[in-house]
Amino acid sequence: MRKRLAVLISGNGSNLQALLDAKFTQGEVVLVVSNKKTAYGLQRAENHGVETFIPDKENYNASLYEKLMDANLDGIVLAGYLKIIDKKLIDAFENRMINIHPSLIPSFCGKGFYGERVAQAVLDYGVRYTGATTHFVTELADEGPIIFQEVVAVNPNDTVETLSKRVLEKEHQIIVKSVEYFCNDALHVQGRHVLIGE
Ligand code: GAR
Repeated sequence: MRKRLAVLISGNGSNLQALLDAKFTQGEVVLVVSNKKTAYGLQRAENHGVETFIPDKENYNASLYEKLMDANLDGIVLAGYLKIIDKKLIDAFENRMINIHPSLIPSFCGKGFYGERVAQAVLDYGVRYTGATTHFVTELADEGPIIFQEVVAVNPNDTVETLSKRVLEKEHQIIVKSVEYFCNDALHVQGRHVLIGE
């Protein structure tokens, strides 16, 4: 059985696009949710014939929870979803919800570190290397067991735009790889560690 996946987004949706283009043999994106009506990712989903959903503003968490439960999902991917996830939803998808973050966790992550703010913080700090991380979602922001990481070297003349572009290329690789392994039941969580296997 192919795994049924929902992807949650807030903006451009380039990571969503990578997932839509990947055409997994063991999984499919059946639903794309955005907290923002104007997110370009919604258009990408429609172009692929994937159902889209924008939770009701007044009743956000309940409306999101109900929709995701009704969709009979195996997994959820947070792909540039910049809103805090309710504990009830995290609990319902323990070890079945994957997030992508544009840094090498545990650096430049947690509260306030999202989108291009991360690249700005990386440049301000002067680190030589940054990267991208996928992890399972737990209650604490960006703290769940790490699935894959890729390293990106910071160049002396990098700007937020040039650095973010190189990090995004790595994100697209590891988000696809993580979802592929997930759909093949090849990610096994043991405490803080994710064992990769058959
Ligand atoms: C990505 O860089 C993703 O890692 C980041 O938002 C961007 C969304 O890009 N997510 C976070 O910062 C979460 N803390 P996209 O909409 O083009 O996929």
